Amino acid sequence: MLTVLYSAKGAPGVTSAALSLSAVWPRPVVLLEADLAGSDLALRCRGSSGAAVASTPNLLGFAAATRGDRDSTLTEWAQPLACGVQVVLGVQSPTQARGVADLWHRLAVTAASADIDVIADLGRLNHDQPTMPLMAAADLRIPVMASAVESILHTRTYLLDVTVAGGRTVPLLVGPGRTAAADCRDVDGVMSQAGIVAATSTHLPLDHPGLAALEGGVSPTGRGRTSQLVRGARAAADHLLASAGLEVR
Ligand SMILES: Nc1ncnc2c1ncn2[C@@H]1O[C@H](COP(=O)(O)OP(=O)(O)OP(=O)(O)O)[C@@H](O)[C@H]1O
Ligand SMILES: [Mg+2]
Repeated sequence: MLTVLYSAKGAPGVTSAALSLSAVWPRPVVLLEADLAGSDLALRCRGSSGAAVASTPNLLGFAAATRGDRDSTLTEWAQPLACGVQVVLGVQSPTQARGVADLWHRLAVTAASADIDVIADLGRLNHDQPTMPLMAAADLRIPVMASAVESILHTRTYLLDVTVAGGRTVPLLVGPGRTAAADCRDVDGVMSQAGIVAATSTHLPLDHPGLAALEGGVSPTGRGRTSQLVRGARAAADHLLASAGLEVR
């Protein structure tokens, strides 16, 4: 199953949500960085040895291996982060992304047919984004927004402008835990008033220490107190999988 996360504007927390969801996903999963603006996780996270994340393997390896329509799996190009997430590191810059402009269709086909789940971070999108094949092939599309009216309305505009057939759209709101239920109701109201077909939204709490712990290598399955972020990510993952017709817990 291919799940894509993206934003319409701003930096509402797409990468943080993709990392958190991958860390608690109750099925085998690989996190794919497909943000044309450049990889963040290599800079933000620790590698499995506790040292900096290695620059390879990465998406460029997949791009080279599959040139001329040759086959490769995504997991061959993944590496473990200290928090336990398997990640395919993305391009480092928009310039590097231009060098693999022919990649995205092949990547979408491979990701959608992978034998494990793929969670892809598409970053901030515009309408003629080269990574659109990933969006089109996705089973679950997750527009991520902040709990601010402008973020919600920009997401609404994007969803009205860009129609993609198939799959399910499940909005994800990143904001304070204490207003989560009311914020999600607002999002659902805005989407349904606009006639947008989407499942009920879900929520990820803002939790800076929890995010720092995950990036620093604390595994959500390890000992110690579970952060608010990890608890929220588990609930969001359950909601997403249920929206896709998959109950796993
Ligand atoms: N759930 C969260 N808890 C705590 N802080 C968060 C959370 N989500 C995002 N942030 C904060 O907001 C910053 C931006 O988040 P992130 O990089 O995930 O956004 P993005 O939407 O991927 O942005 P970009 O489009 O620039 O890639 C993070 O560095 C972090 O400080
Ligand atoms: Mg990002």
